[in-house]
Amino acid sequence: MSDTRALVEVDGVTKTYRTRRNGRWQLVRAVRGVSFRIPSQHIVALVGESGSGKSTMAKLVTAVERPDHGHIVFDGRPIEEWRRNLREYRRHVQMVFQDPYAALNPLNTVRYAISRPLVNYRRLSQGALEAEIRRILETVHLTPVDEFLEKLPFELSGGQLQRVVTARALASQPRLIVADEPVSMLDVSIRAEILRLLDELRSREGVSILYITHDLISARMLADDIVVLYRGTVVEEGAASTVAKAPRHPYTQLLLRSIPNPWAPPEETAVDLSRIDRVSDEGGCVFRARCPQAMERCAEAVPRLTAVGGQQRVACWLYDRAEAGENAPEGGQPSALRPGN
Ligand SMILES: Nc1ncnc2c1ncn2[C@@H]1O[C@H](COP(=O)(O)OP(=O)(O)OP(=O)(O)O)[C@@H](O)[C@H]1O
Ligand SMILES: [Mg+2]
Repeated sequence: MSDTRALVEVDGVTKTYRTRRNGRWQLVRAVRGVSFRIPSQHIVALVGESGSGKSTMAKLVTAVERPDHGHIVFDGRPIEEWRRNLREYRRHVQMVFQDPYAALNPLNTVRYAISRPLVNYRRLSQGALEAEIRRILETVHLTPVDEFLEKLPFELSGGQLQRVVTARALASQPRLIVADEPVSMLDVSIRAEILRLLDELRSREGVSILYITHDLISARMLADDIVVLYRGTVVEEGAASTVAKAPRHPYTQLLLRSIPNPWAPPEETAVDLSRIDRVSDEGGCVFRARCPQAMERCAEAVPRLTAVGGQQRVACWLYDRAEAGENAPEGGQPSALRPGN
């Protein structure tokens, strides 16, 4: 994995918002020193609970927001350079949002929605345009195509609408799709289909995907790598199968346990993450106030991401450097997620 060329490199990115609450200005540190990379044709999942900074990260990668510190490089060029030609950047980096109903103009047909980016970005002739609209609708399995071309959004199901939105994102032939909770508003029965579609797009169309979710299980289904965010900080990252199956960070372990399991005995039911209070985390581990295994050391210094085993990196004092050295192979197998590897 490590020799795959990174399409996106996020390096030490920080974003702080200023908000006014009860007449006073407050700083919200939405993203703090986040680093990860997305190799070509890879799917990286950004996982975390509400408010962990996932959408802020999506806005930074799509150049909707600017970082306060740190760098984002897309296809070998810093995002600040791409900003000089945002139109070109938007052609390469497309977004799919949570709510397909809100993403589409209710007055425009499917044909029109797909044709807009084809005309804007690729300037196809009339004949080529019609053929490409059909090809893209087939790619997202909206078939027979003639049944969908003239439909308006209200005539389609949630799953079909998300396919239209995905088709529209594909129309500019992007290299990266940032999908922010693309299935969380859909019926459970069709979520897997949309995830399968995203997986197909990676192999057939060659796109990379930044898949944003609060759900560790769907991240494991779809992604190659998982980055776990807690209050704007990466607490764990690595190969999806390892992170979702055998998480090391107490927060990721809690995330896994918070997934309801209908077959579990009553004493093992889900942990309600939202009921645990938040306190200041300045100067120590961001998770220490909620951590069942917090130690004195956790209040004293911020743990850095450390390799544990070949496939995982964890920011937790439970895995300090000495222990990581024992567990990891010589130098640790570098994760595809780390800039500079
Ligand atoms: N434009 C903004 N102005 C002020 N604060 C903001 C802004 N956007 C996000 N935030 C704050 O930044 C933090 C991270 O928000 P963000 O939307 O990135 O979280 P998220 O992980 O996407 O959450 P969710 O799962 O609910 O979508 C939150 O505390 C949020 O209130
Ligand atoms: Mg969000």
